[in-house]
Amino acid sequence: MAQKNNDEQFKNVISHAKEYGFVFQSSEIYDGLSAVYDYGQLGAELKNNIKTYWWKAMVQMHENIVGIDSAIFMHPKVWKASGHVDGFNDPMIDNKDSKKRYRADQLLENKIDELYAELTNFSAENKAKFEEFQQEILGLSDEGQAAWIPSFKDEEGILDNSKYPFVNEASWRFVKKGLALEVEMNLALKSENLAQLKDLIVDYKVICPISKTSNWTDVRQFNLMFSTQFGAMAEGSDEVYLRPETAQGIFVNFLNVQKSGRMKIPFGIAQIGKAFRNEVIARQFIMRMREFEQMEMQFFVRPGEDKKWFEYWKEARLKWHMALGTSAEKYRYHDHVKLAHYANAATDIEFEFPFGFKEVEGIHSRTDFDLKQHEQFSGKKLQYFDNDLNDEGKPFGNYVPYVIETSIGLDRMFLLTMINAFEEQDLSTEDKQDSRTLLRLHPALAPYKVAVFPLTKKDGLPEKAREIMDALKFDFNCIYEEKDAIGKRYRRQDAVGTPFCITVDHQSLEDNTVTIRHRDSMEQERVAIADLADLVGKAVSWKTLLA
Ligand code: GAP
Repeated sequence: MAQKNNDEQFKNVISHAKEYGFVFQSSEIYDGLSAVYDYGQLGAELKNNIKTYWWKAMVQMHENIVGIDSAIFMHPKVWKASGHVDGFNDPMIDNKDSKKRYRADQLLENKIDELYAELTNFSAENKAKFEEFQQEILGLSDEGQAAWIPSFKDEEGILDNSKYPFVNEASWRFVKKGLALEVEMNLALKSENLAQLKDLIVDYKVICPISKTSNWTDVRQFNLMFSTQFGAMAEGSDEVYLRPETAQGIFVNFLNVQKSGRMKIPFGIAQIGKAFRNEVIARQFIMRMREFEQMEMQFFVRPGEDKKWFEYWKEARLKWHMALGTSAEKYRYHDHVKLAHYANAATDIEFEFPFGFKEVEGIHSRTDFDLKQHEQFSGKKLQYFDNDLNDEGKPFGNYVPYVIETSIGLDRMFLLTMINAFEEQDLSTEDKQDSRTLLRLHPALAPYKVAVFPLTKKDGLPEKAREIMDALKFDFNCIYEEKDAIGKRYRRQDAVGTPFCITVDHQSLEDNTVTIRHRDSMEQERVAIADLADLVGKAVSWKTLLA
């Protein structure tokens, strides 16, 4: 039931986003382009406000972080050095009957989820014990993990039930199969054993959700980068890529920024920009897109201080999310047990979307991998001379800095913000049925800060309302509306998250006061026109989020 409500809520958010001009499907009149979306008139405002919040928090609030805007096209060697040409692949498999293509690991993950669903039958205590055990297993070396597989696959189970009490639960035989599959899949992915992935799909009887058959092709690697032709380059080397992440634009500019900005370690370089990935499975609206935006920051530190800064950024980034007023239970960290070859620590900040906890942001301790790769592929030194003194009183000297990265998907943050703010309120009283749809956006993020309404279209009220709007519009994004009854106009502004509605009536002409109505409480108060800018300004100020 909860699942159904969540699905319904998600569908309502998607249709609300379209109805009020937040998000449209790209090229909709041509039936759309899969996993590509356009932001409408209010979506563009909300997105810009999220960007501003991030830029202010990361760049303007840190004296040692600067922002850049690097090009989408980069030299093809960049992607060779970064590992994307050879390693940015998804293992794909086709069902021969439905002709549909799937990510092999996602098919297996769905199967694992199906088997783990039996955990709901465990007692709370045993569920917690199992999860602890699972983390322990997944934290072992590859050999250590592989050694456990036979115990999970054995039908009767050979685990000592005094040590592992959960093996007494009736659903254990499904759960242990799930654990076996999780371990086997991880090992196959890590060793890029595509034949093994296919075998798992067959052995665990995974079927195509459309044809319901298990008539599968072999698993093949599919690179996620989009490529295109670059006119001016020499023949044979004219293939360039649309960047799959903004981070590399920062790495290749590391020395340019450090020298021109006279930056001293530790320092950061941030940027916001488009990234492109040919995602094969595009799902969940703007959650997984082929063209999306990232807000990334690379923080360059002294080797040996990377762990300390990783912890710093992990905490700082969650604080940024929480300042928006989201309840703490909606967020969690997901520390990576298995790390990418270049990382020595990584965590995801996950948000509870209607379809479960999913990654919004990654914090990665990337060591000196990227800069060293670029040194090797470009033949140029990317080192920093650190003249601070170490414990022995000598300068730290020349080194390739270590890097902590924070990387958040702007579109995911946008979706999270819409979902978090969306509320359908029943306002019925004994005498009257009533309801409203509300976007409870933080005022600093709201597309419009103020709506100005003349009570009627005559008696000089529109002129007075325009006068107020003309004075406020330099500092705040305002909207003027004179159509429909006031109640209807309020509802429309509630639905797009406008924190303040100002109504100009006949009294306004006499004493220069107006009614201001607050979105969340629906309370109204009479205030002097001269006080409006101050009242609105305080509520929508970035200080409310950043101080
Ligand atoms: N530079 C590191 C990097 O790109 P990532 O985990 O691949 O790391 C970072 O991506 C963030 O970008 C994710 O946490 C997610 O919010 C967002 N993201 C990644 N792929 C996306 C997609 N196809 N559509 C929308 N957002 C995406």
